[in-house]
Amino acid sequence: MRRLIVGNWKMHGRSRDLAGLSALAHALAGSSETGAEIVVCPPFTLLRETNALSEGAFAVGAQDCAAQMDGPFTGDISAAMVRDCGAQFVILGHSERRCGHGEADERVQLKIVAALQAGLIPIVCFGESQQQRAAGGAVEAVLAQVQAGVPALQGQSLVAAYEPIWAIGSGLTPSPSQISLAHHAMRDALREKGCAGPVRVLYGGSVRPANCAELLATEGVDGLLVGAASLETAAFLSIIAVAQQYAR
Ligand code: PGA
Repeated sequence: MRRLIVGNWKMHGRSRDLAGLSALAHALAGSSETGAEIVVCPPFTLLRETNALSEGAFAVGAQDCAAQMDGPFTGDISAAMVRDCGAQFVILGHSERRCGHGEADERVQLKIVAALQAGLIPIVCFGESQQQRAAGGAVEAVLAQVQAGVPALQGQSLVAAYEPIWAIGSGLTPSPSQISLAHHAMRDALREKGCAGPVRVLYGGSVRPANCAELLATEGVDGLLVGAASLETAAFLSIIAVAQQYAR
């Protein structure tokens, strides 16, 4: 299975940054390696242009979508609108949405349903806080999120991302055995939810060129969700190059 590498640009990126994405598209199109599947998730404002310049070298995803398809929801962007911009994926339940916007599991669940209905593949984030990890309840916390945040899936599939909140942007990462434990538990829980196919579980949180090989070699890791390092074309490309070697 090819590894899935997702770049989450967060609230970064303006028209002037499209040159970096063109360079990424050219570098990927010129490479004979097809050992990794790449998704770039720019802000909503760049979705359409990013899709146009990707030339099929990578897929495009949004970073969120509304729980409803249309209606009087000022400022919201629906999954159908995201799909209309050419995106194929959408990140949902990121801890910056859960913590910064009070997004509870029930809302994440509604967004997953809306994304699937619009034909998008959800990349759903789950992860424990520092306190939960310190109290020895990391896996339980993540499983509770899966339980409450994922609807019953009838043969549909989604991608999951294990993103410990304390690892995001901190330079810290869990140990390989901690990651494996969480990934296996999440995969089993998602299978019980009816998730189809080989359930892909990504790791996210302080992924860098320097640690990506160890993370990709970790049992149960199907790919990476990359924040800060995806903003720099050279760093993102070097992570992709390592992922291509880890195709299995
Ligand atoms: P980071 O972010 O790689 O900058 O830690 C990852 C994420 O939040 O998706």
